Amino acid sequence: MEDFSDIKLSRREFVMAGAASVSAAALPAGAASATARAPAVAPAALKPVASDVSFIVNGQPRSLTLDTRTTLLDALREHLHLSGTKKGCDHGQCGACTVIVDGRRLNSCLTLAVMHEGARITTVEGLGTPNNMHPMQVAFVKHDGYQCGYCTPGQICSAVAVLDEVRAGIPSHVTPDLNTRPHLSPGEIRERMSGNICRCGAYSNILDAITEVAGSQT
Ligand code: FES
Ligand code: FES
Repeated sequence: MEDFSDIKLSRREFVMAGAASVSAAALPAGAASATARAPAVAPAALKPVASDVSFIVNGQPRSLTLDTRTTLLDALREHLHLSGTKKGCDHGQCGACTVIVDGRRLNSCLTLAVMHEGARITTVEGLGTPNNMHPMQVAFVKHDGYQCGYCTPGQICSAVAVLDEVRAGIPSHVTPDLNTRPHLSPGEIRERMSGNICRCGAYSNILDAITEVAGSQT
């Protein structure tokens, strides 16, 4: 057995040595030596990269110079000051950030702004105004389709796009017959709106609002 009695480490050296051995033990065989050989990342490579992007937002041409890591959600809220679109989870789970991009609904927290050069983007502000509301906004008010309202812009953008999807004949996971145009049953609406979470639980009223608008458009 080896004798380590002559080795003296300061407390700091002891902690650093311990951390290094734990890291090495956690790596697959061979990875530790590969890591040791890996060249250091040049600081310049870590610098943010800016890029120009132009798109049409609510009918207005907008041009921005953005850090390429900026999400579409942050571009809308922080750079264009369109704060109607909400940040709930910021990773694709709640639907509060839903906007309509080139006719399709999108979680704006999951996509980078610079990926949408030339796109037509509609946020809740572009659907209607307090004096001239979109029929879906009117129906949400009429049916009390919200409580705190935080999820509501995303719900409304999603609902408007859902009706367009059905009109275009796009099936959902619960469409019973893929050869006929989907019928907007309560089950279809619930399925298609399932990506929009409402912590206040206004689901039945949201369903009523969408059903009314769908009925008036058929
Ligand atoms: Fe984008 Fe929740 S904020 S899905
Ligand atoms: Fe509050 Fe939906 S109305 S989260």
